[in-house]
Amino acid sequence: MQRITSHLIPECSFSRIAFGLWRLTDWNYSPRERANLFEQMLDLGVTTFDLADIYGDYRCEQFFGEGLKLQPELRARMEIVSKCSIRLAGAASGARINHYDTDAAHVRKSVETSLRDMGIEQMDLLLLHRPDPLMDADALAAVLEQLVAEGKVKHLGVSNFLPHQTDLLQSRLSLPLVANQIEVSLLHSQPMFDGQLDHCQQHRIIPMAWSPFAGGRLFAGDDADSVRVRKCLQQLCEARGLNADDGVMQLALAWLLRHPSRMVPVLGSGNPARLVAALAALEMELDREEWFELLRAGRGRDVD
Ligand SMILES: NC(=O)c1ccc[n+]([C@@H]2O[C@H](COP(=O)([O-])OP(=O)(O)OC[C@H]3O[C@@H](n4cnc5c(N)ncnc54)[C@H](OP(=O)(O)O)[C@@H]3O)[C@@H](O)[C@H]2O)c1
Repeated sequence: MQRITSHLIPECSFSRIAFGLWRLTDWNYSPRERANLFEQMLDLGVTTFDLADIYGDYRCEQFFGEGLKLQPELRARMEIVSKCSIRLAGAASGARINHYDTDAAHVRKSVETSLRDMGIEQMDLLLLHRPDPLMDADALAAVLEQLVAEGKVKHLGVSNFLPHQTDLLQSRLSLPLVANQIEVSLLHSQPMFDGQLDHCQQHRIIPMAWSPFAGGRLFAGDDADSVRVRKCLQQLCEARGLNADDGVMQLALAWLLRHPSRMVPVLGSGNPARLVAALAALEMELDREEWFELLRAGRGRDVD
C-alpha cells in the first residue's frame, strides 16, 4: 500500500489508510481474534493503528495490548498512535467532571500508562487529543520534548486543533508537529473551507481524518444530509457498475483520498470484510466533476 511520509521528518511515515481502534472494546473479539485482525490489517498494508488513553473507558489500550502480546513480532510492523489530554469523569480517571488536562504531570502519567497498558516501550506518534483552554504552551512543549528525549514517544502531533492552536504549540517546540487528526467526511467537509486543511497543506502537517464515514451515518443515517449523500454515492456506483454495498463505502473514501492535503482516513469498522472492501478505494479515481457532485450532496448546496 502507498504510504504517506512526513515532509518534516522523512523517517516518519504512515499507511495511506489507518485503522482506528476506538470501538475495539465493543467488538467482542478474544485476544487471539484481535491479534489475527491486527495481522490481517498489517498484511494488507494498513500499518498505522490509532488509539487513545480514554478509548473504551480507558480499557482499549489494554485490549490492544492483550492481542499484541500473543504476537509481539507484529509490533515492529506497526505505527502506534495514541492520544492524551482528555480526562473523563469516573473511577478510571479519578476526575469529577469531564475536562481537558495538558499539565505536564497528567501528560507524562497518561503516556506512561498507555505504554504499560499496550505493553510497548515507545509510541510512534503522540497526539494532544483536544485543545485545552488552560494549555500552557511552554510547559506542555517542555514535557513533550522530554518524553521524546526519553524515547517514550517518537513523534508529536495534535488532534482537533485549529490552525492558531497548532501554531501556538509549534512556536514553543523545537520538534515539528507532524499530524493533526480532525473530523473529515462527506458529511463534515468544513475543514476544507475553514482553513484547517489549508493550514496542514501549508505547513506540511499530515491530516488524519477521523470518522471518515461519519461514524456509519453515511450508510445508516436517516437524516436529510445522509440520505442525499447516499443517493449521490449510489448513482455514481451505478454509473461505474459498482456493487452498491461496497461501492458507496469505496467512493466515500476515494473522495477523501482525492484531497491534495494527502489526508490519512482512520477507518473505524471492526468488520474485516468491510475493511478489506474499503481498501479498493485506493485504486479509484474521481474526476473533478464527480468530486464536486459529492461535495454538493454533502453540503446540500452548489458552490457559489
Ligand atoms: N481524534 C479524535 O477526536 C477522534 C474522534 C473520533 C474517532 N477517532 C478515531 O477515528 C476512528 C474512526 O472513527 P469512527 O469509528 O467514527 O469511523 P467511521 O469509519 O466513520 O465509522 C465506523 C462505524 O461505521 C460503521 N460502518 C462502517 N462501514 C459501514 C458500512 N458499509 N455499512 C454500515 N456501517 C458501516 C462501523 O460499523 P462496523 O464495525 O459494524 O463495520 C462503525 O460503527 C476511531 O476508531 C478513532 O481511532 C478520533
